[in-house]
Amino acid sequence: MIIKTNHDMNAKDWQAASVFCRKLIKEVYDIDYNPDWHQDLDAMGKKENVYDTPMRGAFVLVIGDNGAVIACGGLRDLATRPQLAASLSDRYPDPHAVGGLWRAYVETEYRGQGLGTVIKVLRIAAARQLNYETLYLHASRKNPVAIHFGKTHGFTLFQEDNDEARTVHMDRAL
Ligand SMILES: CC(C)(COP(=O)(O)OP(=O)(O)OC[C@H]1O[C@@H](n2cnc3c(N)ncnc32)[C@H](O)[C@@H]1OP(=O)(O)O)[C@@H](O)C(=O)NCCC(=O)NCCS
Repeated sequence: MIIKTNHDMNAKDWQAASVFCRKLIKEVYDIDYNPDWHQDLDAMGKKENVYDTPMRGAFVLVIGDNGAVIACGGLRDLATRPQLAASLSDRYPDPHAVGGLWRAYVETEYRGQGLGTVIKVLRIAAARQLNYETLYLHASRKNPVAIHFGKTHGFTLFQEDNDEARTVHMDRAL
């Protein structure tokens, strides 16, 4: 198994990360490609990649022994999601102070073995290095593992939306 970060990912790795995220989004949420929702995946490996250092992002990619991606997770500046940042502006007057955890996926057969935890810990360390003050994540109420996963890493729930996904918003100070 190899763990790479955005610092040592090449164009092929970013392409593999993008394909992996799409596959897991389909498997976990049954959501097909949507250019509005998947801009971050389209931009991987390009100048506007929100998960790379120039945009104050970070990414962790785990590659299995057979060379296929088995897990990943990203960190991005909340300001790269302007609509979401605007909706949370009472809580976060400066969205640039908030790092968001996005795109955490572990291949089904590798879950429950600590990989998600490794990816989370590496992203928390990256967020500190990038001088974020707060870490944010959201998940669906229908995804209790994701919510539990946030809570075990010190996140607390501060808002629950009445949307179809019953989106739960969580954060923690860094
Ligand atoms: C959420 C996810 C990334 C966690 O990755 P993972 O490698 O399975 O996590 P870990 O093995 O490090 O376990 C982390 C915690 O989740 C718990 N957990 C993992 N799988 C679980 C399961 N199927 N049911 C209940 N709890 C589970 C573990 O017990 C552990 O809790 P603990 O710290 O209290 O012991 C992974 O389950 C996943 O990819 N899920 C589908 C996609 C998703 O929901 N992503 C998150 C979007 S916000």
